[in-house]
Amino acid sequence: MTERTLVLIKPDGVQRGLTGEILRRIEAKAYVIAQLTKSDAAPDQLAAHYAEHEGKPFYQPLVDFMLSGPIVAAVVEGNDVIKGFRSLAGQTDPTTAAPGTIRGDLGRDWGEKVQKNLVHGSDSVESAEREISIWFG
Ligand code: CMP
Repeated sequence: MTERTLVLIKPDGVQRGLTGEILRRIEAKAYVIAQLTKSDAAPDQLAAHYAEHEGKPFYQPLVDFMLSGPIVAAVVEGNDVIKGFRSLAGQTDPTTAAPGTIRGDLGRDWGEKVQKNLVHGSDSVESAEREISIWFG
């Protein structure tokens, strides 16, 4: 089924100059980048985006990290792209993410309170629509 998903390239990915490499992997998989922006995240966008994690130990470090530099947001379209992008991204923890994935190939554990894992991808159709409206209105 054709879907759309919200991809964020987090500040570590942008700061390390990996935006092109990450977008290349998305396009190489024949997904379509329908919308693309680079901006500084606003605190209210992050509060909405990460509402489900509020209260967890990594919540505030995560928000601080996401405010530490510009991010790239993209709406990506394709057949089964929600599952497909999460497969391209790899597991949350860069240490155990499989080689061949974005996090497995390019991410590392920096030994900090938050996992700086380069990218975010929506986990369901409902999350994708909610997250796209947060970042693209
Ligand atoms: P993301 O897919 O954006 O969803 C929530 C983020 O919180 C996640 O990527 C990681 O950056 C971070 N995260 C999730 N679990 C942990 C954890 N156990 N410890 C630290 N950071 C985490």
